[in-house]
Amino acid sequence: MAYHNPKLTLDPAHQQNGTIRWSSPSNIALLKYWGKHGQQLPRNPSLSFTLSAAATDTTLTYGPKQHLEAEIDLVFRFDGQPRESFAERTAGFFRSLLPIFPFLKQLHLEIDTSNSFPHSAGIASSASGMSALALCLCSLEHRLFGNLAADEEFDRKASYVARLGSGSACRSIYGYGALWGKTGEIESSTDEYAIPMEALMHPVFKSYHNDILIISHSEKSVSSRAGHGLMENNIYAASRYQQARQRMQDLLQILRIGDVERLGILAEAEALTLHALMLQSAPPYILLEPNTVAAIQAIHDFRANTKVPLYFTLDAGPNLHLLYPEESALAVREFVRAELLRFTAEQHYIADRVGAGPAELVAE
Ligand code: PMV
Repeated sequence: MAYHNPKLTLDPAHQQNGTIRWSSPSNIALLKYWGKHGQQLPRNPSLSFTLSAAATDTTLTYGPKQHLEAEIDLVFRFDGQPRESFAERTAGFFRSLLPIFPFLKQLHLEIDTSNSFPHSAGIASSASGMSALALCLCSLEHRLFGNLAADEEFDRKASYVARLGSGSACRSIYGYGALWGKTGEIESSTDEYAIPMEALMHPVFKSYHNDILIISHSEKSVSSRAGHGLMENNIYAASRYQQARQRMQDLLQILRIGDVERLGILAEAEALTLHALMLQSAPPYILLEPNTVAAIQAIHDFRANTKVPLYFTLDAGPNLHLLYPEESALAVREFVRAELLRFTAEQHYIADRVGAGPAELVAE
């Protein structure tokens, strides 16, 4: 399999220690990944904007192995506090990565991670979290073996590794926008990792807003993992995957020419398709809240009355992502304050926008 490399082991005579730190953002899919097979491979191509405010900051400290009996010798802290459940999940992930990074079993590893957004915000942190972790691991490989300088190959490997952690995380490696999944229009596209979209994006989208209206803080009743699984027996699955391919053709054109209206129409259709697929699963389920629907209605009314190109999208949850261009920012801010905050949980609203992607930081 790609990236397997049994040669990446350390000479025990050379003790290694150091610290690596990355901040990596979340992303919001305009064209949704929903349905997977094999080792986290997508059933259809997806495309997202990379965000900036919603990000995970992860520090990886490494040194000589301390607990020799453990296959993966790992300590995990979230917001400075040990988190046993995260430690176990991460150790399991690292174990699955041993064919790619065999040196992980030779080191003591400490991970300190925190999110820029509140833990209970109802925002998925797997894309930012897994991408930050993948970037740390690729930097560690380069630190130890000098073979993976920060270039396209580094990004591809980081995206590949992030994908194995959480599918959508592979798109967070690139600033502005990313495409994941083989699509006929773009030669270099692949199911294995995401590729950057910045060069194919009209400038209007590089400063696009994506504000997040927190409708509910509650944990989702059905996880994304279970949701992907339910696609396997969804009777609409095949036509959904075909629809996604067709929409990708449209979306690539829209991104290139900078058509904000068509982008919004497509993003809303995709959001509602995603939730329609959940409504159509066996068993069916609903992640939308009454206030999600009320806010959607208000957005539609606002758009009809003002012609401001404010559109929404949704993740696999009840929270609304507001998409609009910089030139509409004042009008939208006023509308959110006057009409939308009442639909949120405790006035919770995160003003986010398209951003430049992950950054390697100096460890403290
Ligand atoms: O990366 P996962 O397995 O959590 O799946 C995420 C799927 C959606 O967020 C609903 C859509 C997407 O493309 O990000």
